[in-house]
Amino acid sequence: MEKELEKLRLSALTKIQHTLDSDSLNDVFLGLLGKSGQFTRLVKKLKDQPTSEKPNLGKLVNKVKNEIELALERQKNIIAGKKLEEWLDVTAPGIKPPQGHLHIVTQAIEEITRIYERIGFTRVRYPEIDWEWYAFESLNMPRSHPARDDFETFFIDGPTSPTLGRMVLTPHTSNGQVREMERLHHKPPIRMINITKCYRPNWDVSHVPMFHQFEGLVVDKGINITHLKGTMDYFAREFFGKDRKTRLRPFHFQFTEPSFEVDINCGICLGKGKLEDETTCRFCKDGWLELGGSGMVHPNVLKAGKIDPNIYTGFAFGWGVERTYMMKSGTKLDDIRLLYSNDIRFLEQF
Ligand code: PHE
Repeated sequence: MEKELEKLRLSALTKIQHTLDSDSLNDVFLGLLGKSGQFTRLVKKLKDQPTSEKPNLGKLVNKVKNEIELALERQKNIIAGKKLEEWLDVTAPGIKPPQGHLHIVTQAIEEITRIYERIGFTRVRYPEIDWEWYAFESLNMPRSHPARDDFETFFIDGPTSPTLGRMVLTPHTSNGQVREMERLHHKPPIRMINITKCYRPNWDVSHVPMFHQFEGLVVDKGINITHLKGTMDYFAREFFGKDRKTRLRPFHFQFTEPSFEVDINCGICLGKGKLEDETTCRFCKDGWLELGGSGMVHPNVLKAGKIDPNIYTGFAFGWGVERTYMMKSGTKLDDIRLLYSNDIRFLEQF
């Protein structure tokens, strides 16, 4: 009941402050404090509360009622155009405006950034609208290469560059790889974490056309797969919890060789695939869950960034922010589009 009271308090005060004529203010008054008003109905629940909580709840009810009445009075005076000094009681308690919070995806981006910053990565952002060259060609995907079909793409109706091709809404954060090599004047070491919006023309319960990825890129002398694996395990422990670890499963990407899909051991059965009572774990596939792509940077990508692949090697990974966050919170979203529907009732929960 305490929570409900607080919710009602916030919504009532906001509503009152936004009501600008006296008829509507009267409706707001009736809707709150009238016979079947929201507040009146809530107060009726008081008698069903545990006896031990009644005194405190009673006090709270009075406090909220006072606040609402005060706000109504205040708003009445404002609407009537009375001068401030005629009605303002400087000794009256103030009204705390409702406080929002960052969107869950923003929270996730900040957490991911901090985790990689602790091991020396630099957070960067590269254009969401980019040239085909950065999104594809520089990543070892020539114009007619079938691998491009894996990255269904929105094209921009705009000028075409003779060297860089068409403009696209970038379908992945890998467009930042060669851009980062250029930013650092083709001189490793590189430790980049690029987190930006990406776009693909998909719209269903598990896809939104605009989503976020975080892309890591490390290039230096002597970088090998153990560095990739160590970094993945570090992230799994920091983001998901100390019992978590990853495995690399062979895969294919044009811009990495070898390429891997990164899996994480299931947080419920911890990789066993079975629960304590020997029944099959329903939360994973044989103990593992798929996180995203990774691999050792393809020599052609280093060449595109004017870095000598005979001297330098690197690894890269690119995962979806939304997907990774959902896996952590254990939030089972039937429809990922809820994240961007701006329904305050959904967002308030996080
Ligand atoms: N860009 C790939 C994707 O969107 C992920 C990836 C990034 C794979 C970096 C390997 C290395 O699916």
